[in-house]
Amino acid sequence: MKYQYKEMPESMSGTYGEFAKNFGFDWKEFIMGIPTPMFLVTTYKSNGQPNATMQSWAGFTSANHGDGYYVILCSVNKRGHLYQSLNEKKVAVLNFMSSDLYEACMKTIQNNQFEADEITSSGLTAEKASWVEAPMVAECFMNLECRYLWEKEIVPGDDHVMICLEVVGGHIEKDYMEDMFGDKGVLYNVHYPINPEDVKEKGCDYVAALRKANQSYEY
Ligand SMILES: Cc1cc2nc3c(=O)[nH]c(=O)nc-3n(C[C@H](O)[C@H](O)[C@H](O)COP(=O)(O)O)c2cc1C
Repeated sequence: MKYQYKEMPESMSGTYGEFAKNFGFDWKEFIMGIPTPMFLVTTYKSNGQPNATMQSWAGFTSANHGDGYYVILCSVNKRGHLYQSLNEKKVAVLNFMSSDLYEACMKTIQNNQFEADEITSSGLTAEKASWVEAPMVAECFMNLECRYLWEKEIVPGDDHVMICLEVVGGHIEKDYMEDMFGDKGVLYNVHYPINPEDVKEKGCDYVAALRKANQSYEY
């Protein structure tokens, strides 16, 4: 049996699923539960201070007519430091944190002042990237150095934009190489699941880790 939803179910009125529209989240995100990878994007602000932005609306792809690996940051706030610094410097690093680093990475949201070194003030270590002019977080198990390619609004006039970056190169810890589905693995963001058939009180978004299923396939 499948439930069908096209309009927001009445049972979600007055819940977080409706209220979250104020933060730019659609009600469907809460009932469809599709996870998105979570990482910290680092850049230099125009005053030379490291910037750090938690990001989880994102996808990764290759292109048949492009000789590279690309990241689509699906929704970047035009009013944020990331958008500003990416447009100035045209480079960034994507830093992937294991769950023990999650809280420190989240502190960058409070330490978001323009004058701040958002990495150091959050208890993390800023290192210079190798191939692009951007900082990266030493403690993160993987750092992908990227260059800016293009941006586009998903809907005309939106205050968030989709941005395509190309991965120039990466730094990857041995532990992750040896066990990608272990404790040191990519984290995912899952919006607080709401079941419209049985609405409960508002909860918090989930942090999820990937576990391997039994199936596999060959090309
Ligand atoms: C788990 C998580 C995921 C986030 N994903 C995004 C995102 O995809 N796009 C976005 O614009 N903001 C996102 N944010 C909010 C930004 O991280 C936050 O507004 C940050 O302070 C902006 O920093 P900046 O001004 O240095 O760019 C996310 C926050 C969290 C906690």
